[in-house]
Amino acid sequence: MRFNIAIDGPSAAGKSTIAKILAKTLGFAHLDTGAMYRCCALAAQRCKIDLEDGDAVAKVLGHTKIDFDASGNVLLNGEDVSMAIRSNEISMLASKVSAYPQVRRNLVALQQKIAAGQGYILDGRDIGTVVLPDAAVKIFMVASVKARADRRYKEYVEKGISMSYKDVYDDIEKRDYQDSHRSASPLKKADDAIELDTSALNIEEVVAAIMQILKEKGLWN
Ligand code: DC
Repeated sequence: MRFNIAIDGPSAAGKSTIAKILAKTLGFAHLDTGAMYRCCALAAQRCKIDLEDGDAVAKVLGHTKIDFDASGNVLLNGEDVSMAIRSNEISMLASKVSAYPQVRRNLVALQQKIAAGQGYILDGRDIGTVVLPDAAVKIFMVASVKARADRRYKEYVEKGISMSYKDVYDDIEKRDYQDSHRSASPLKKADDAIELDTSALNIEEVVAAIMQILKEKGLWN
């Protein structure tokens, strides 16, 4: 059976990690929509665009090709930028450019085109509300700021990225505020989304909880 799954939630809630595992389990494709906003931010920064100018930032997308290869690497005009888009600077800039309606229109259209074939798991902030309002399953994944900061800090230590715990915590709070207070498609739970608090759950438990939801909906055996 082919259907689409929308996973939304705040930064560092584990959406992409869970979406990747679910996609593998179900034989679905995964689209990390946050990576697209990150590519937009990186492309605009590289072109030395004034990031306060939404029209100029959106214009960059006109000559920017965002792709994903079979291994899930993120390609910006053919260059693998999977690592470059994860820097803290690009995280903050992605949050900034994602507030521009012109940027959102462009990327949402691309996301809808990709997911039109069904069998997709999209994760982001506005998937259940705007990108795929008819998704068969909508999950709104939340976790306390502390749980998210703990996970992100551990990830940075493992990757050798030097950043204080306080800065990680403060950045998560700041992005939460920006992403949920912008006027264009703010982070918001869709009325028909199922909220999943992952603060006290490990990855396997979150995947099991979503698989259970699919079974209850008769979408998986
Ligand atoms: O999921 P992420 O942290 O990689 O997303 C980076 C930024 O992009 C995030 O601060 C908010 C924005 N974003 C968005 O506005 N809508 C989406 N569907 C996905 C991400």
